[in-house]
Amino acid sequence: MISNEPLVADGGIGLVQHIKMDLSAGDLKYLEGQSIGIIPEGTDEKGKPHKLRLYSIASTRHGDDMNDETVSLCVRQLEYKHPESGETVYGVCSTYLCGIEPGADIKITGPVGKEMLLPDDPDATVIMLATGTGIAPFRAFLWRMFKEEEKKANPDYEFKGLAWLIFGIPVTPNILYKEELEAMATEYPENFELTYAISREQQNPEGGRMYIQHRVAEHAEKLWELMQKPNTHTYMCGLKGMEDGIDAAMKAQAEKNGVDWDTFRKQMKKDHRWHVETY
Ligand code: FAD
Ligand code: A2P
Repeated sequence: MISNEPLVADGGIGLVQHIKMDLSAGDLKYLEGQSIGIIPEGTDEKGKPHKLRLYSIASTRHGDDMNDETVSLCVRQLEYKHPESGETVYGVCSTYLCGIEPGADIKITGPVGKEMLLPDDPDATVIMLATGTGIAPFRAFLWRMFKEEEKKANPDYEFKGLAWLIFGIPVTPNILYKEELEAMATEYPENFELTYAISREQQNPEGGRMYIQHRVAEHAEKLWELMQKPNTHTYMCGLKGMEDGIDAAMKAQAEKNGVDWDTFRKQMKKDHRWHVETY
């Protein structure tokens, strides 16, 4: 492991780390949108080795240092109150990763996953719906699309389409990769749209927390229009809980246009332009 950096700024909630790992000793190669498995150190309560956990890759195939020798993850430490005892419980693998020291060895498997691959078409419209660490694959996409070094390394992929990220986070200090995202949005205003749903600072029209699905509802007409184009791909990554709300928002818009959303979504899925990875 090379580095382990905090992604939550002062005043933010919980622990989310950007972890960069060295691949130079092995032959692991990966693509944007794939995941890797991590096997935490130690054993479980039965004395058996821990099971692997999957994490979305947050770097491009070239890695953060552009030398094709690293892979980065964006990991939130799982923390919850035990439903019976009320004690605070910390997740095994996420705690291991968030606390890991530079120089330590990490057991990695994979890469796996075809669901979240980025289309080759440089003119595509790429709609990205993320909550929390669901940003990971989209950071890789956006680097590939907009980072200068990436453009040089990938002369066959000159992105000229539209990328639209709608990102749900609880408070401003929890906007993961905030500076990078905003720098790209400023530099490429024609090609990159950045929309936040800051749940505990902004309100939805009913006065409750502003969730990603409320932003989807707000922009449903535009999103629906974009989805009519055969080269529009929609990606969803992060909390499982966001799926139903997003579906409901798009269903309402489809109905306004006299279209059955379930049929339309299934067709997009068949056409490999509806991509969901939630956990
Ligand atoms: P564990 O020690 O395995 O604890 C998890 C268990 O705790 C749950 O199974 C459940 O039994 C219990 N639990 C959890 N919450 C509660 C609660 N509120 N109340 C009661 N019980 C509860 N995570 C990231 O941080 N970043 C990523 O990029 C990422 N990508 C993923 C990609 C995929 C494809 C998948 C499937 C998952 C991804 N995850 C990601 C989640 C990750 O794999 C782990 O599930 C997560 O880190 C928790 O693992 P852990 O070992 O820390 O928790
Ligand atoms: P909140 O926690 O305010 O209820 P993080 O991973 O950093 O906690 O961010 C996850 C974001 O997703 C938070 O803004 C969280 O809101 C929000 N969220 C929680 N539950 C849902 C849900 N069911 N649908 C959409 N967003 C959700």
